[in-house]
Amino acid sequence: MAPDPISTQTARQSTWHEVCRAFHFVDRADLSVVHEHMPAGTSGEPHTHERARQFFYVLAGTGTMTLGQREVQVPAESGIEVPPRTRHHMRNDGEEDLEMIVVTTPRASGTPHVRERPLGRDRGGLVVGSHLRQTRPGDLATVVSFEEAMDTSPFLGQGGMAWHESALQDPDLEHWVLVDRLDRVIAFGILVGVAGGEVVEIRRMVVAPEGRGQGLGRLLLRQLLEHALANPGVHRVWLDVSADNTRARSLYRAVGFVEKPAPPDATLLDNGVYMEWGDTHRLP
Ligand SMILES: CC(C)(COP(=O)(O)OP(=O)(O)OC[C@H]1O[C@@H](n2cnc3c(N)ncnc32)[C@H](O)[C@@H]1OP(=O)(O)O)[C@@H](O)C(=O)NCCC(=O)NCCS
Repeated sequence: MAPDPISTQTARQSTWHEVCRAFHFVDRADLSVVHEHMPAGTSGEPHTHERARQFFYVLAGTGTMTLGQREVQVPAESGIEVPPRTRHHMRNDGEEDLEMIVVTTPRASGTPHVRERPLGRDRGGLVVGSHLRQTRPGDLATVVSFEEAMDTSPFLGQGGMAWHESALQDPDLEHWVLVDRLDRVIAFGILVGVAGGEVVEIRRMVVAPEGRGQGLGRLLLRQLLEHALANPGVHRVWLDVSADNTRARSLYRAVGFVEKPAPPDATLLDNGVYMEWGDTHRLP
């Protein structure tokens, strides 16, 4: 039987980065055709497809495609091919919405920005391809939901949406999320004092409740440390942890933090234990 016509009204829809929409016109193993809608100021994440070849055809607006080291403008009624194994991503730097058709063959396993499968242990290998990026306002609902878990909130100080919104505005804080290959937020961490360049505090780190015990906490901590220590002036990285937070204390110890008497400039939780990164020159 011949397939029926399909439109944005009838195609399966997905959303990525909260505001970008994708309409899946053809979604087969050998071919994917997607109508992507990217509002002004949005961007995909850089990624590579091992086997798939793609063609991006812009219907309206202008896209900026980064292909390897090259950046090209793709205006309406023009398109660009992306060969396999070429790192790329599309941005919308313009003021108009970007509408485009993306043809992929064969279909890429895990289109990099489509939120489809729930985060869970069955996915495995979450650590591979996960990376740190700066937190955006649209990530905060997820961030706050991680903190609200029963076995999490007792170990944290203040939190909630308003607290995180002001943290995003605070020039002394850096708010980071760890995202997986599909740009799903799987953990977050907050650093204080990186700009000051001498003493950095890891104010908070939380992994999605369903993602714990898979190495994500270790990965997040390592990446936060790497970022803090990239500033050569930083000579102390510290954190405080509830005395009864066994999980977190084991992680911090395993990565090289040591428990010490708190110096006078450190403000701790009520039952907080002060821990300091043992060697500012060597990463775990
Ligand atoms: C603490 C937390 C960040 C750890 O993240 P995670 O992804 O579960 O930890 P990982 O899988 O990376 O484990 C790393 C190490 O942590 C320790 N660890 C993890 N889970 C543990 C548990 N249930 N019991 C004891 N130690 C544990 C181990 O040392 C482990 O190393 P190993 O796997 O080599 O044994 C996470 O559990 C979390 O978000 N907890 C709630 C929030 C919180 O307490 N944050 C810290 C205070 S700000």
